[in-house]
Amino acid sequence: MNSDSHAADEQFLAPSLNEQVTKVRRSYEDLFGAPAEWVAAAPGRVNLIGEHTDYNAGFVFPLAIERYVVIAGGRPATAAGDGRIRVSSMLLGQTAEFPVERLEPQRRDWTSYIRGVVAGFLERGVTPGALNLLVDSQVPLGGGLSSSAALEVATATLLEAATKTQLDPVDKARLCQKAEHQYAGMPCGIMDQFSSALGAPGKLLLIDCRTETAELVALDDPSVAVLVINTNVKHELTGSEYPERRSQCEQAARLLGVPALRDVSTRDLEGRKSELDPLLYRRARHVVGEIERTLQAAKALQAGDWPLVGQLMYASHASLRDDYEVSCPELDVLVELAQEIGSGGGVIGARMTGGGFGGCIVALVRSGREREIADRIGRGYKQRTGIEATAFVTRPARGAHIIQP
Ligand code: GLA
Repeated sequence: MNSDSHAADEQFLAPSLNEQVTKVRRSYEDLFGAPAEWVAAAPGRVNLIGEHTDYNAGFVFPLAIERYVVIAGGRPATAAGDGRIRVSSMLLGQTAEFPVERLEPQRRDWTSYIRGVVAGFLERGVTPGALNLLVDSQVPLGGGLSSSAALEVATATLLEAATKTQLDPVDKARLCQKAEHQYAGMPCGIMDQFSSALGAPGKLLLIDCRTETAELVALDDPSVAVLVINTNVKHELTGSEYPERRSQCEQAARLLGVPALRDVSTRDLEGRKSELDPLLYRRARHVVGEIERTLQAAKALQAGDWPLVGQLMYASHASLRDDYEVSCPELDVLVELAQEIGSGGGVIGARMTGGGFGGCIVALVRSGREREIADRIGRGYKQRTGIEATAFVTRPARGAHIIQP
């Protein structure tokens, strides 16, 4: 095997968390002159189905992925006693510093997520104290795989260790979601932080976003694998699309006189179509249909009914593309190419995953054919768009945890 294909292999298969941790520990010591006292890891996520349903109190069906944010921390040697947090990013090669008493929610940069999480601890009466932090990430940035949620949840997990407090994992997810709202300015639902905090090896999470509880569903059919393919494009420049969709859903729910679109069925919606303008109706039709598809997909998956799971994934994509309008040509091309390969070629189903406007698709494929399928889709994508896609396989991974020395 030449070194190129070895590198490609490392990209395609799960990178070793142990190696990542060793690398971060070493760099921490080089940078701060003392060994790290705590190391925490939190994964990204990929959503199998249930898109743009979380902020409608609906269901989502994600899994944590074998790609982690790892964060190492310790107390500074010279206890200046000023409660300053110094944080360095291996990915960006940057270091920043901020005092705990001045967290500046409006300032937007890569430390927003960390400052937001610190704010959540202060709100709960827990003072982190002065800290040195070093962050590394294997979650592709801007790929719709929740790199920011992974950073928030890793930070919260490290702060738990540093302050000897233990948050309830769902409360930890909420704390991180609030950090995202107030410090990153992104009014997200609970899915990403919940998946990163509560992910379980081998399990999908069927999350009820109203009660904020999850049923663990085993993904244990050895003949099925999860393949993630990145368009490597991101079209959402202003960030205004997501809040706009969210407020359209809230408006639709208000007009229908229900607390959330979760409380409407497809039948109800059809009967009351005239009460919504055509745009709001299409937005609502996506959400209501998607919640139904998610529950059906969870059942079908448990029954091993793969053709039905696949059908629901394609239907989800079409609805996100046509009714919710959060797909983009590159995502559509990837899904079309997967669908063209079809079940005869080992593809069970595929759809865009995450917020949309670029990022990744998720496909369920037959084990043993992952690479061949990824290569074929990659070639077709390059031909049709001129862009290089990147792909990897993942199993459902363990959620946030402290790495024991
Ligand atoms: C983003 C948000 C999530 C969810 C998805 C769409 O990832 O952070 O809360 O709304 O988009 O399903």
